[in-house]
Amino acid sequence: RAATDYQAEDAHISQGTVATNHTGYTGTGFVDYTNIKGSYVEFTVNAASAGTAAVTLRYANGTSTDRPMDISVGGTVVAPAVSFPATADWNTWATRTLTVPLTAGSDKIRATATTADGGPNLDRISV
Ligand code: GCU
Ligand code: CA
Repeated sequence: RAATDYQAEDAHISQGTVATNHTGYTGTGFVDYTNIKGSYVEFTVNAASAGTAAVTLRYANGTSTDRPMDISVGGTVVAPAVSFPATADWNTWATRTLTVPLTAGSDKIRATATTADGGPNLDRISV
């Protein structure tokens, strides 16, 4: 099955803004998380059937400090404090792929910053 892309700028954003001030993003922009613990982006994704699925997050982190995030599905943290380490600069994007459980139909996948630095810049997820 081919992956579907879900752009962060189209997702539900809590304590973050859509930005375009760096290059290399896909879609029309990316989410700049507010530098605060608990800032999040929540995607509504669709899976044809229940089971585990690969979720790839495309991000940039132009600092030298990790920007960990909790990944939850339907309100349950399925991957705590996933590492989003430094990329070369804010114009350089990297991916992290996780395996998460999904139900058949609609699921809410949320990526929540766990430190006062906030999350990395987030371009999209692919499921
Ligand atoms: C800079 C950068 C932003 C980034 C921010 C941060 O301001 O331009 O894209 O989100 O740093 O440290 O989170
Ligand atoms: Ca930020």
